[in-house]
Amino acid sequence: MEIVILPTSKDVGRAAAAQIASIVGANPAAVIGLATGSSPQGIYSDLKRRVDADEISFANARGFALDEYVGIPLEHPESYASVITRDVVEPLGFNPSRVRVPDGRATNLEFAAKEYDAAIRAAGGIDVQILGIGANGHIGFNEPTSSFASRTRIKTLAPATREANARFFDTLDQVPAHCMTQGLGTILEARHLVLVAQGESKAAAIAGAVEGPLTSFVPGSALQLHEHATVVIDEAAASQLTLRDYYEYTYANKPNWQRVQ
Ligand code: GLP
Repeated sequence: MEIVILPTSKDVGRAAAAQIASIVGANPAAVIGLATGSSPQGIYSDLKRRVDADEISFANARGFALDEYVGIPLEHPESYASVITRDVVEPLGFNPSRVRVPDGRATNLEFAAKEYDAAIRAAGGIDVQILGIGANGHIGFNEPTSSFASRTRIKTLAPATREANARFFDTLDQVPAHCMTQGLGTILEARHLVLVAQGESKAAAIAGAVEGPLTSFVPGSALQLHEHATVVIDEAAASQLTLRDYYEYTYANKPNWQRVQ
């Protein structure tokens, strides 16, 4: 796992965006795993800057979102389908027909979840998966005790996650109790994982995911099983890491041929 610690949250977005840009630059038809939430916003704004400067294009790329609420309509401004359209598809110029979000409104949710996994496989798998992390260690909506082998499926949101996401709704009661999320097993099949986190509130989750034991109690620790995972965090999110000096030393001494600009 590569741990990159940078001074500010803006630096985090820029560095993670550089990784995505290098993948899309090399393969304009790349398949990108898209995350919602506050954490990846800096990535999307830096990618937009690169699109506007004609450095890269997402016109031929494909996208698969990580997760979706179950129990709110597609048109709801906080459905992840709406969020992905607003934050990713429109600003970055994805072709909407090449971007999918799990169908949280399907009549047969179990079938829709299986079909989503199959669609990712049929697209050739995800080249790079963008990830945030919840304060309780969740990735996607894989709450603590999610199996490392899990596939896209329905989950019940943890009360802490509903409370954290209540800021996007008028009241806590309006936050759905269920979701459809790519499983940890699904996420681990992506060829490259890029996880970003900013702020003190993520420090414990990052320490657990990066340095803690491999445990479904901290779903983010699944990254330890991946051969190409990059964790890009600011100093506050890095504040509980024991080997912080080592990660900074490693990054500072990285040979140029390994650097992504
Ligand atoms: C959300 C999303 C996750 C996200 C996490 C952290 O509920 N389902 O994909 O990574 O929780 O959210 P944020 O980035 O807003 O802190």
